[in-house]
Amino acid sequence: MKRLLSIAFVILAIIMASCGDKNEPKFRIGVSQCSSDEWRDKMNHEMRREMLFHDDSIMEIISADDNNEKQIADIQSFIDRGFDLIIVAPNEAKALTPIVKKAYDAGIPIIIFDRRITDDSYTSYIDLDNKGIGYAAAQYASSLFPPNSVSKVLEITGLAGSTPAQERHGGFMEGIDSFSNLKLAASVDGAWDREKAYVLTDSLLRLYPDIKLIYAHSDNMAIGVSDLLKEKGRQDIKILGTDASPGQGIEAVRDGIIDATFIYPTEGHRIIKTAFAILEGEPFEKVVYIPSLSSVDKSNAEILLRQVELLKDATNKVLLLDEINDQQETRYKNLTRFSNTILVLAIVLALILFLFILLLIRNRKLQKELEEQNKTLIEERDRQLKLYHQLDEVLVKEDDFYSRFINIIKTQFADTSMSTDTIAQQLSLGPAQLTRKIKSLTHFTPVEILRNYRLEQARQLLLSSDKTINEITSEVGFSSPAYLTKCFREHFGMTPTDLRNS
Ligand code: FRU
Repeated sequence: MKRLLSIAFVILAIIMASCGDKNEPKFRIGVSQCSSDEWRDKMNHEMRREMLFHDDSIMEIISADDNNEKQIADIQSFIDRGFDLIIVAPNEAKALTPIVKKAYDAGIPIIIFDRRITDDSYTSYIDLDNKGIGYAAAQYASSLFPPNSVSKVLEITGLAGSTPAQERHGGFMEGIDSFSNLKLAASVDGAWDREKAYVLTDSLLRLYPDIKLIYAHSDNMAIGVSDLLKEKGRQDIKILGTDASPGQGIEAVRDGIIDATFIYPTEGHRIIKTAFAILEGEPFEKVVYIPSLSSVDKSNAEILLRQVELLKDATNKVLLLDEINDQQETRYKNLTRFSNTILVLAIVLALILFLFILLLIRNRKLQKELEEQNKTLIEERDRQLKLYHQLDEVLVKEDDFYSRFINIIKTQFADTSMSTDTIAQQLSLGPAQLTRKIKSLTHFTPVEILRNYRLEQARQLLLSSDKTINEITSEVGFSSPAYLTKCFREHFGMTPTDLRNS
């Protein structure tokens, strides 16, 4: 019984263990973003969407909010927590190179994107053509003004220590040099910050009131410039931005807040694809070069927005499908777990039923044994009863015999000639037979019974009459007073005289 139960529990444990979920992710990817803004959001969104195709792995995105120290700590935490691959957009090249190199030299695959470090301590780099963007901005600016006059322009760069700012500036200067109708009045560091761009424009406008155009390295800063120019009533000044991220740059162009911007691709999906190529040992390129794409101005902002909407709609559909798939998956998992539980219950029930049947069988067997015993007992009882009746008969017979024997004693004890023979004769038995029967019934011989009876009678007479011992001797059938006294003393422990005197 116990063995069966233990087997049941072992089966139970095996099934429960098998239906447990494997929670350990296959790969853990850390993304260290230098900032968090519209453009980064778009990139993060693309990376998350790409991760949908790798639901056995997880991705964690941390933003350093444009702070070098924080980003160094973020990357260190990915190293400490043993992430399998780290993706980094380093806030400033020089400050971030050491920690990236440390991770890379520790054997953690590194993907650099958008911004670069100062050396090539990385596994793969998504190289966006920032120089091309800077040049395109100068080219676009030149196209806005008459070729044979010189128009002064201002440049508000991104964070000076970040490579996109350095490369856009380089491209922009190349353009200035190659387009004779442009002259750079000043280039200042706006640190990608809208507020800073607003303040810088205010002071630069006082210095160079005759500027015709301001090129900002990001739409974020370009919008800051636009706010200020609107306040100063200088909307005559053209504003160029960069990024063209939907939800900010393209709308700003459509709504005439800035005049044009340049697409700075986010490539979130490509970054994740490269990450899994590296993790799964598939081929990948150390440097993936993405040529700069077109500009965005009034002429194509609408179309682009519509395409973006379509893409967003398609993306949402993908996300929705993924959501549904997740729900299906959860439902399936629950169903599996549920069916496992049912299976377990069924097995347990089967075992209980089996045990129950076993019990029934054992019970039936016990019952049979009991019946057998009962039968035996009944037979025994019947035998006993039979014996008892026989005994009873015998007893009755004995009783009857015994009472006849006693009766003889009672009526003839005074006769001194009484003996075993005379009694046996009256009971039509041999003397030995009589002695045996009386002994088996009373453990005494007939003579002992007769003598004890006589003594008892003598005792009664002694106590209840004033007859002499001689008279009593002959009345109870003793042969002589001396013999009566001897037997009396043996039987009662005192002589008849003592008794009488006491
Ligand atoms: C977003 C951003 C963009 C810019 C890029 C350069 O964080 O500031 O506006 O194009 O970073 O790295």
